[in-house]
Amino acid sequence: MGLHSDTITIRGGRPLTGRIELKGAKNLVTKAMVASLLGETPSILKDVPDISDVRVVRGLLEVHGVKISDGEEEGELHLDPSAVETAHMADIDAHAGSSRIPILFCGPLLHRLGEAFIPDLGGCRIGDRPIDFHLDVLRTFGAVVEKLPSGIRMSAPGGLKGAKIELPYPSVGATEQVLLTAVRAAGITELRGSAIEPEIMDLINILQKMGAVISVDTDRVIRIEGVPELKGYDHRALFDRNEAASWAAAALATEGDIFVGGARQSEMLTFLNVYRKVGGGFDIHEDGIRFFHPGKPLNPVIIETDVHPGFMTDWQQPLVVALTKAEGVSIVHETVYENRFGFVDALVEMGATIQIHRECLGGQACRFGQRNFNHSAVISGPSKLHGADIVVPDLRGGFSHLIAALSAEGTSRVSNVGIISRGYEKFLSKLETLGADFTLEG
Ligand code: EPU
Repeated sequence: MGLHSDTITIRGGRPLTGRIELKGAKNLVTKAMVASLLGETPSILKDVPDISDVRVVRGLLEVHGVKISDGEEEGELHLDPSAVETAHMADIDAHAGSSRIPILFCGPLLHRLGEAFIPDLGGCRIGDRPIDFHLDVLRTFGAVVEKLPSGIRMSAPGGLKGAKIELPYPSVGATEQVLLTAVRAAGITELRGSAIEPEIMDLINILQKMGAVISVDTDRVIRIEGVPELKGYDHRALFDRNEAASWAAAALATEGDIFVGGARQSEMLTFLNVYRKVGGGFDIHEDGIRFFHPGKPLNPVIIETDVHPGFMTDWQQPLVVALTKAEGVSIVHETVYENRFGFVDALVEMGATIQIHRECLGGQACRFGQRNFNHSAVISGPSKLHGADIVVPDLRGGFSHLIAALSAEGTSRVSNVGIISRGYEKFLSKLETLGADFTLEG
């Protein structure tokens, strides 16, 4: 992961200022790499970030026989799937680590090889994160799913066939599962209740380049006409809007001014509206967005996370740090994951006033109401944060801890920061560029 030590000491209280550049979105790039398995010819993917989730998928593709090499440009990958083969469960297990990506290999591998294995799946500790939608979808296409002590084995004795599918919730991963399976299944697939995040639209762009026939109707309906063969693609990945939102929140929390190169307005409309209501300043340029603290008090807001086009769940954690500085009471109702407020304990230790409630606050009742999930946060500000010793719990929570430490008075020791490199490319050198005062331990 490029870090010699997993602990950094941060001397807070300095505004982050300067310019950083984004690469492609973690949540698109990893799926685009999997899509290369479906092609008969090599694919080229550009703007691939150097993050550990990409390295995990690269390792997994390689154990399945995909030859991967770096292209001329920084962040360009060439993926050649002409020798795809079944991998051993032990190799898959060794490479998968805590990633949930292996589940998305199933459809492509069933098409290519007639079978697929997946180990126990991990990911961030932000709720149960089950894979029931994925398994149901694959069964509907005709896959036979066998649970073994070492993981799950799948086969497709009669081939995969297009189907009518309705998701119980617009899950990003399950929508991708349908897309990656339906493009080469026999006949037509109609998916209702699909997720329509920009990363999914970009995956559809890639699949269309490969030869797929996919239409996106209104009301979350996607139709896919299966084709017998696909070719490789050449694609520049959509920018990482979660990283953009994270740096935007960092600019607010540290009273700084950050130009996020590569960020675009249209995929961030909802975020920008909230940012403006909080009192954050932004200027939209052709090559990026400048985010800055306006120099006057910030306003409290009431937000509810939701699937696109709502306010993304991944934007919530960094923004909460900025909301500890707003004058008044803010409410964040998390409706996508049942357990995504674990990170606030550290903020409270640093001097923030945040209470977590089981009830659905500030919005409509969601699937987690009345179910004992602590999924609403009440943040009372403004608070002056002070340094503390913090252990990073997960990717987005971890980034928000970094921001909190950078905005706090005094020194913080933040450990387990390696998790952050799962999704934030070269975050330490970006922090350096922005003038942060920190040292790596060891
Ligand atoms: N869900 C189920 N069953 C399933 C699948 C999902 O109940 O089989 C539930 C989840 O537990 C969750 C909800 O459905 O409560 C939404 O999950 P979704 O499937 O949409 O999430 P995901 O595909 O696992 C991706 C991103 C997440 C992002 C979410 C929501 C990737 C690799 N991950 O996860 O990103 O928060 O969509 O937009 O694309 C992150 O980047 O830090 C991250 C967690």
